[in-house]
Amino acid sequence: MQTLEQLEKKAISFIEEASFDRKPTALFEPVEYAMKQGGKRIRPLLVLIAADMFSFDLDKAKYPALAVELLHNFTLVHDDIMDASPLRRGKPTVYQKYGTNRAILSGDVIYAMAYEQLINCDADKIPALTKTLTSVLINVCQGQAYDMAFENTTEVSVRDYITMISLKTGILLAGSLKLGAIVADASKENMNVLSEIGLYLGIAFQLQDDLLDCWSDLESFGKVSGTDIADNKKTILYLLTLENANEEDAKRLLTLYSGKPADVQQKIQEVKSLFEKYDAKQKTEDMVNEYMNKALKSVESLDVEQERKSNIVAFIQKLLNRKK
Ligand code: IPE
Ligand code: IPE
Ligand code: MG
Ligand code: MG
Ligand code: MG
Repeated sequence: MQTLEQLEKKAISFIEEASFDRKPTALFEPVEYAMKQGGKRIRPLLVLIAADMFSFDLDKAKYPALAVELLHNFTLVHDDIMDASPLRRGKPTVYQKYGTNRAILSGDVIYAMAYEQLINCDADKIPALTKTLTSVLINVCQGQAYDMAFENTTEVSVRDYITMISLKTGILLAGSLKLGAIVADASKENMNVLSEIGLYLGIAFQLQDDLLDCWSDLESFGKVSGTDIADNKKTILYLLTLENANEEDAKRLLTLYSGKPADVQQKIQEVKSLFEKYDAKQKTEDMVNEYMNKALKSVESLDVEQERKSNIVAFIQKLLNRKK
């Protein structure tokens, strides 16, 4: 068994050493750019954590690891267009650097390249891998559709929000652990428990992302903070504030979220002060803890020796303190 640090190094090296450079350059330069700008590479790491839990040859786990990172980057390239986000990983987003048309097409090819990786896996595993990746992808698109639809409605509950983030973010973390379990021939039961762990982690991860979008600096987060507020995203912070605000503040928040004013910085400051007034930050942190604990609780149900659980537990603990 490998240590978490060894698995992290492996996940990074699989991505860094892969070549995405093909012709024409107009199509593939943005692919190389998206894949090689760093990023935490937690999804390929999750593939490796699951595969290593069942002693699978990690060099063969490379293919599903690359597949999930490609799929993730495809979603980001298109997400940044949808969210009008200028920076990611401290650098201009793909559409900012190469223009929207190239970003759309390069995103499409990244998505195809994710499937291409699966072809390298053991033949008897390909149907299950393809089925999982496909259902993940459909779920992510559903989540993104809700995310955008929620920008234009006030009828969003915390429950709707949890469904939306489960789809747009949770399912891919679940799917990453599941792909690792599939290649390693894990039992159906263990596969299901790993998916459940990934889903809880993904929910916690997106809650953290909402927090970081409000209260992080560009240096560590690598994304411009306040973008969610500018886009009228119905984040957990917004929902918890609206739920707890007095009539006057609730009205003000709804007004602030009803358009896209010229002075966006003023809007961001005012919305943030309402979030702070109603303690939405602390309440969200409590929810992050709640979902991380659910994930840890599910780890107990994994039917493997105790020491084989140490990497997933260490991963969860590390994620709890993330600043980027
Ligand atoms: C960003 O994911 C998208 C979300 C689900 C919040 P990451 O925060 O994992 O992005 P990178 O790959 O590390 O940049
Ligand atoms: C991430 O949602 C979900 C997907 C990209 C599928 P966000 O829109 O919050 O992600 P960031 O903050 O841009 O990374
Ligand atoms: Mg988005
Ligand atoms: Mg975004
Ligand atoms: Mg975000």
